[in-house]
Order: sequence, then C-alpha cells, then structure tokens
Amino acid sequence: MSSQSSVLTKVFLFFFALFGVFASLAAAAPFAEMERRDVFVPPITYPHTGTVWYKGQRHNVTWDTTNAPVNITNKLGRIMLRKGDITTPVILEDNFDILLGRIEVTVPWVLPDTDYSLVLFGDSGNFSPQFSIQE
Ligand SMILES: *[C@@H]1O[C@H](CO)[C@@H](O)[C@H](O)[C@H]1NC(C)=O
Ligand SMILES: *[C@@H]1O[C@H](CO)[C@@H](O)[C@H](O)[C@H]1NC(C)=O
Repeated sequence: MSSQSSVLTKVFLFFFALFGVFASLAAAAPFAEMERRDVFVPPITYPHTGTVWYKGQRHNVTWDTTNAPVNITNKLGRIMLRKGDITTPVILEDNFDILLGRIEVTVPWVLPDTDYSLVLFGDSGNFSPQFSIQE
C-alpha cells in the first residue's frame, strides 16, 4: 500500500517535471526564434579605442553588416552617446538604414573626456569601445 502510493508520487513528480520542461521550452522558443531570425545588432567598427574626436567635426561611424539576416525587423538605426556606463539622451543620428554600414555624424559639444562611447540601436544596442571627445 505504501509502496504503491510512493510509485504514484514518483509518477506524478515525473509528469510534473516533464510539464515544467515543456512549459519552459514553450516560453523560451519564440524569443530564441526571434533572436535568430530578426534581431540584427551589428558591431561598431569606428570609433574605436584610441579615437579622438573634436567638437563640431564630421565623422563616419561605421559598423559591420556582414552577418545581417535576410529579414530584419529593426531596419532603422539610431546612434546615441554614452559616457562611462550611462547612455546620455544625446542622439547623434536617427532613422537611417541599419544596412548602410556607415553614417555621418557631427561630434556634439560636450565636456572633453576620454570615456565616451556610442550605442548603435537597431533593436537592442551595441556599444563601441570608449574613445575621447575634445574641444
Ligand atoms: C563618409 O564616407 C563617405 C563614403 O565613403 C564619404 O563620401 C564621406 O566623405 C565620408 N565623410 C567623412 C566626414 O569622412
Ligand atoms: C523574408 O521575407 C520575405 C517577404 O516577407 C519572404 O518571402 C521570405 O521568405 C523571407 N525570408 C526569410 C529567410 O525569412
């Protein structure tokens, strides 16, 4: 009697565990699928470590488009300025085709420092290495 109930408990626990696995697979699948097919987060290739920009200059920010998927949901890009670990509200360029691989920006007038970086947004963002902006 008691061994029978322990078998039932094991069977129950088995199905319970199985259900849990399926539930987590079902929850994870759409996200993994979307990431593989649609989200394109290209790495920034310029500016890089050692780059020095001066206020008011024009520069091509460049990024690598070689691994672009066929269909991208986040076709339009936006470049924002970061300082240290903070993304500032400064938008350098917006609404450009993420597949261009480069876009001209004007260096904003900000306090001279060595810990600026850029974020290229399609869907989620990709950070450049830190570089300098000088007056
Ligand atoms: C950006 O790149 C384009 C294409 O190579 C070039 O025509 C343009 O002069 C560049 N702009 C700057 C500021 O270097
Ligand atoms: C890309 O989208 C087009 C048009 O919606 C579709 O016909 C094609 O099958 C898609 N390709 C891939 C690889 O998803």
